Amino acid sequence: MNRVGREVRVRRYPAGAVTPDDFEVVEVPVADPDPGQVLVRNTWTSVDPGLRLRLRPDAPAGYFAAFPLGQAMDGIMAVGEVVESRAEGFAPGDVVSHAQGWRDYAVVDPRATQLGGIGTLSRLDVGDAEPQWYLGALGGMGLTAYAGLHVIDALDGGETVWVSAAAGAVVSLAAQIARLRGNRVIASAGTDDKVAWLRQALGVDAFNYRVGDLRSSLRELAPEGIDAYFDSVGGAHLEAALDHLTRRGRVAMCGSISEYESEPSGPRNLFLAVSKDLMLRGFRGSSNLHLMAEMRDQLSAWLRSGELVHRETVFDGLDQAPHALAEMISGRTTGKTLVSIG
Ligand SMILES: NC(=O)c1ccc[n+]([C@@H]2O[C@H](COP(=O)([O-])OP(=O)(O)OC[C@H]3O[C@@H](n4cnc5c(N)ncnc54)[C@H](OP(=O)(O)O)[C@@H]3O)[C@@H](O)[C@H]2O)c1
Repeated sequence: MNRVGREVRVRRYPAGAVTPDDFEVVEVPVADPDPGQVLVRNTWTSVDPGLRLRLRPDAPAGYFAAFPLGQAMDGIMAVGEVVESRAEGFAPGDVVSHAQGWRDYAVVDPRATQLGGIGTLSRLDVGDAEPQWYLGALGGMGLTAYAGLHVIDALDGGETVWVSAAAGAVVSLAAQIARLRGNRVIASAGTDDKVAWLRQALGVDAFNYRVGDLRSSLRELAPEGIDAYFDSVGGAHLEAALDHLTRRGRVAMCGSISEYESEPSGPRNLFLAVSKDLMLRGFRGSSNLHLMAEMRDQLSAWLRSGELVHRETVFDGLDQAPHALAEMISGRTTGKTLVSIG
């Protein structure tokens, strides 16, 4: 069948902050699926800070590949509906997730491992869940939040945990998981509205890191220090955490968004990791797929009972995807940032 689709391509690598002009949306013919493949019409696609790390000639070593200029951007999560299937196990109408987002049609091979396995074509159980939740709480965001707390042993409760970038997709979940597992949670975010939402909807202590001094805010909310820190920011945030961690404290190094569009800025006090017997543990959600089932069971139950809040900022239409990325990195979205490709 002669279908025409649209896809987002990178026109040039951004210098500093991402702008929509760095991208173009082009019309392309949609290929028919070969034997073993599935044609999916995407309905939702994900917008993630990690995309910014791939908008350069070389992505960081060990990370997902950089996006080539002038081509469709492969390796971005999407959910959609199977339109045509030539692969066993998939039928028209199935709701699926896969890793060929930022386009409205995708020909997907279920045998190909994508994004370390997290983006491999999968049929979704949408009985109790909205499809796009698999791009958020029930997908990579939930897994990253859960895995980060798991790798630093912060799921048993009884501790004080600081989470930064806390009104965003991953960390709004990490904040709630840590609290629901019995920790005291201190959250930070960059606007007063986000701080009010963290306090009222998520039930955690919170402060605006753009107001006053990070160390003073931490001292005020956690005079005895913090036992664990879930770090999505790096730089000055990580530096403040090293100062404020108690002996044998742990850091889950989830990301360092303060460095994605500018030069790294520390931490300058790394010796505290030695002097206080700290553990700094980098981790990838996609390296912890063995936790996916456990995470989904736990978070689905909390979503059903209303104990877990899952918020989204939705941009309408594929051509809004670049704008959505710029808005998200600059802090103008709350919860999971998504593009609806209705
Ligand atoms: N390890 C993994 O496998 C994995 C997987 C997914 C995501 N991540 C990482 O997790 C972090 C959060 O990702 P997400 O998808 O949940 O994004 P998000 O939190 O929904 O959006 C990013 C947020 O970061 C904050 N931010 C931006 N620049 C900042 C700065 N200079 N200082 C402090 N905060 C800043 C902004 O909120 P404010 O208004 O609060 O500033 C912004 O809304 C990122 O670092 C990402 O790379 C890691």
